Amino acid sequence: MTTNKTNKTDKSSPHPIPTLLMCRPTLYQVAYVINPWMEGNLGNSSQPRAMQQWEHLHATLSRLARVLLVDPVPGSPDMVFTANAGLARDGIVAISSFHHPERQAEEEHFRRWFVDAGYRIIDLPRDTSFEGEGDALFSTDGSTLWVGHGARTHRQSHTLLESLWPAKVESLHLTDPRFYHLDTCFSPLEDGSLLYYPPAFDAPSLARIHAVYAPEQRIAVTEEDALRFACNAVNLGRTIVLNHISPDLERTLRDRGFDVIQLALDEFLKAGGAAKCLVMKLTSEIHTAQSTSD
Ligand code: ARG
Repeated sequence: MTTNKTNKTDKSSPHPIPTLLMCRPTLYQVAYVINPWMEGNLGNSSQPRAMQQWEHLHATLSRLARVLLVDPVPGSPDMVFTANAGLARDGIVAISSFHHPERQAEEEHFRRWFVDAGYRIIDLPRDTSFEGEGDALFSTDGSTLWVGHGARTHRQSHTLLESLWPAKVESLHLTDPRFYHLDTCFSPLEDGSLLYYPPAFDAPSLARIHAVYAPEQRIAVTEEDALRFACNAVNLGRTIVLNHISPDLERTLRDRGFDVIQLALDEFLKAGGAAKCLVMKLTSEIHTAQSTSD
């Protein structure tokens, strides 16, 4: 691990290289149960396999983006799911306020990383939990911020988010405990379409989604694919990186012009996460001090 004071910016480029934040699963394990996926999996993950699967994801994404790393910390085995660190855009980060005490220690570790990287830090109140990019996703053009609430993120945290970025906040109610974070069932894609699992939402939320995405922009996945975390996809340009999916869904995505890279991520499904949960998208404006991926 090295520290690089390069003050790199990508402002001059019309297509800035995306920047991602990841955390090596050196200390990853299923150590408690805070979602249905973890039930029956306590102590059941293989550290070497998790490491191998993560390294493969990291190598794949490093060909498409600049990947920064945050160091894992003892006592925070879920830190590997960096999507939950917070929500970052335009040099501002809203640091997560985790619903479960099991993950609350992560907040200060992630916070320190963002302070060192030069972000303006917004702390969210403890009593209105917010679980970062796991529950808050910008539309591809940045005009809409889709935010989930239900098992994790508190509905009231959405109001504060509204004041931070010039995006319209659309609240979505998650109703299926298996899809407890928005990024497990909803993924705006860079071609303007949406990969999603409709039964994970209540009727008013579905109506809001359908008011924005026309039928031809919607890619509804089956329950089978949803349970493979198909919506937990990392989309960078024309490439989509995700866990293994059905041949039908793969064909649908390819027909829309995407390169589909499927990776084995089953060690992370045991904790209720896959490709997207292991990544936080950062905008590239700042990062004066950064941990590089080697
Ligand atoms: N075990 C973690 C939790 O329950 C998994 C988090 C998955 N992250 C995500 N962005 N969906 O909090």
